[in-house]
Amino acid sequence: MANLSTVYMGLELKNPLIVASCDLTSNIERIKRCEEEGAGAVVLKSLYEEQIEIETEELMRKSWLPGHTEAFEYVRGMSMANGPSTYLNLIKEVKEVASIPVVASLNCVSAKWWVDYAKQLEQSGADALELNISLLPSDLKRTSEEIEQIYMDIIERVVEEINLPVAVKVGPYFTSIAKVLNVFSKKGIKGLVLFNRFYQLDIDVKNFTLKGSNPLSSPNEMSNSLRWIALLSNRIPCDFAATTGVHTGIDVIKQILAGAKAVEICSTLYKNGFKYIKSIIEEIEDWMKEHSYEKIEEFRGKLSKKEEDKIELYERQQYIGALNK
Ligand SMILES: Cc1cc2nc3c(=O)[nH]c(=O)nc-3n(C[C@H](O)[C@H](O)[C@H](O)COP(=O)(O)O)c2cc1C
Repeated sequence: MANLSTVYMGLELKNPLIVASCDLTSNIERIKRCEEEGAGAVVLKSLYEEQIEIETEELMRKSWLPGHTEAFEYVRGMSMANGPSTYLNLIKEVKEVASIPVVASLNCVSAKWWVDYAKQLEQSGADALELNISLLPSDLKRTSEEIEQIYMDIIERVVEEINLPVAVKVGPYFTSIAKVLNVFSKKGIKGLVLFNRFYQLDIDVKNFTLKGSNPLSSPNEMSNSLRWIALLSNRIPCDFAATTGVHTGIDVIKQILAGAKAVEICSTLYKNGFKYIKSIIEEIEDWMKEHSYEKIEEFRGKLSKKEEDKIELYERQQYIGALNK
């Protein structure tokens, strides 16, 4: 029997499958279901900054919210009862009934709010904290250094104040992503989650309105995280988790070969149901058996870039003759 256990950010996971932060991890019944079907861990639905602002009645004074639609829809659909206190209680309850690690998630856009909440999440019993930092670099005046500094301030202040392992979940919009992630990794975080998938914008040409599209990913969206995890996992001293487009057991194996310690899955469970966690695990076990692997560590990072490797395949950006016959 293949042993799928892995250590991610110091947490011992029975397998590398983590149910990503989303509505599938927003209440106790769903989290229990994730565990029953065999997930290695869960990341709770994020606690949003807006949620806290609602409690302090500051929300409506903010102007940026309508531009941040994932958060906006979440906030619109919830009542005051779903505030941070509910979130903290959820962690306590989950820790009483579930034995898999529970990662809390904070959606941050600035450092000021987060230190107190991070401490409270720690006190509530979360096993780790994922910072869901989603800044869309759309400001015409803000330089990349200024944006990176916001990330840094959040990371530094949170890491300083809590003892939990902290992961940072980022999107792909950085000018110099290798350098930036390397700098983040030196700030005391234990994990990097590549890459968050942001709200997809579309246009309704009949009604001349903006609208959302494709809330769920497709499998062909995985190549970006695969490339960067393969390029960086052996060179940056941090555990990597892959997210976006990981849909099957073979996708998980690819990410592990690239060097990921874990994967965070969401869309594939919306499409196929919780029971699909078991199928993914079976697919990984079958592949390991076929290749005579007994442990994940025997093949993890086998295709991550080593110093001596040629860079071309990892970094090739243009197709050269790909469709020539
Ligand atoms: C309905 C929905 C809600 C989500 N909510 C959150 C959230 O609260 N926090 C977060 O960090 N990511 C959130 N995500 C992003 C997922 O955690 C995940 O990173 C993303 O969907 C890409 O993974 P996938 O391709 O497996 O879906 C959400 C995704 C969906 C579809």
